[in-house]
Amino acid sequence: MNIIVGITGGIAAYKAPELVRLLVKDGHDVRCAATEHALQFTTRPTLETVSGHRLYCDLFSSGSTEHISLKDWADLLVVAPATANIIGKVASGIADDALSTLLLAMPPERTIMAPAMNSQMWAHPAVQRNIATLLGWGIRTVGPADGPLACGTSGTGRMSEPEEIARQVRCVATEQVRCVATLLQHTQQPQPAPTTHAPLAGQQWLVTAGPTYERIDSVRFIGNYSSGKMGFALAEALADAGAEVELVTGPTALKTGHPHVHRTDVESAREMYSAATQLFPACTGAILSAAVADYRPSECADHKLKKHGSEGMTLTLVQNPDILATLGTMKRDGQRLVGFALETDNELANAESKLQRKNLDYIVMNSLRDAGAGFGTDTNKVTILGRDGSRNESPLLSKQEVARMIVETVTQ
Ligand code: C5P
Repeated sequence: MNIIVGITGGIAAYKAPELVRLLVKDGHDVRCAATEHALQFTTRPTLETVSGHRLYCDLFSSGSTEHISLKDWADLLVVAPATANIIGKVASGIADDALSTLLLAMPPERTIMAPAMNSQMWAHPAVQRNIATLLGWGIRTVGPADGPLACGTSGTGRMSEPEEIARQVRCVATEQVRCVATLLQHTQQPQPAPTTHAPLAGQQWLVTAGPTYERIDSVRFIGNYSSGKMGFALAEALADAGAEVELVTGPTALKTGHPHVHRTDVESAREMYSAATQLFPACTGAILSAAVADYRPSECADHKLKKHGSEGMTLTLVQNPDILATLGTMKRDGQRLVGFALETDNELANAESKLQRKNLDYIVMNSLRDAGAGFGTDTNKVTILGRDGSRNESPLLSKQEVARMIVETVTQ
């Protein structure tokens, strides 16, 4: 592939030449585009040497339309590191230097960004809103990862390692090969008409399932009793109806055997957030049934915490991103979004308010007051509330039967 590596002004820019080297080693033709500030952390001669091409930095040095010819040349634009500044500029449509101009000229689905910044900047609502905007347009992200940061603290904000970014690029390259193969198949063979048993043929759905584990130290976590059974039953019901299903699941012993269910295993809420926000833009709809932890320990010790005398211990918790609400802000016309609400009191009113607040099309309400419904059981009893005011109540059924009813309701 022809790849442009965009480099912005964060300390992680010193790793950009290593990324370029890995991409060249994978057989790609790579050119670099850097912001002025990036060159405080890496140098023009290094980037020109590893890529074997002149560095693209100044918008006017060789004609003001060079960004258009570069965009036509490139199959992929990888921005690593991507600072809060460049993320904000793209989200706002600002093009005031060579790289931001190129980013606006490039189709979003051919752009990958590897954010890198201080963890508080990453958690800032403005950055999270901007990232959600980019993901909604189809831009992909890699990271940021957890770990020590240049400012001396530790948290989420490190740029993913060059190997990880190169691995993501390999996935895109494989997808392109698969796309071409599918296109060839489509042009060579007449397509059978979809059968009445596959009403969702051609659709792609995202399902989240199971609990999340939020690490306290190297051997302990905060979790919940979710078994994942409802989410797995939903994934299979969607696939039985003809859809291709992306199942993002927290830790569970459940197995998936369905050929049209593609499984991604994650552990924490933030990993689930990252997978779900990347997969959603390409989907017809999403059903989020995972029991996601609302909070996580503010720090995770990399060793087993020791007991100190007979004193108590205080864990400080910080809020996790709300995956469902984020997908609600990313949702495009025609996409369906379905959430779950496990309520103990004021069930209908709480579910109604969540439906509106998170911009959902449907919400599936479980009441913990109903015997046989909720975590770990093989049965469930739900009420499906629609944005249009519709209400569908199920009797106590197996989770498979409930899943079929939910799928029929939310896909009609
Ligand atoms: O607001 P509440 O947590 O009760 O909403 C439950 C719904 O939101 C479920 O569909 C659950 O999968 C989803 N959720 C999420 N991300 C969170 C918390 C909940 O996607 N951090």
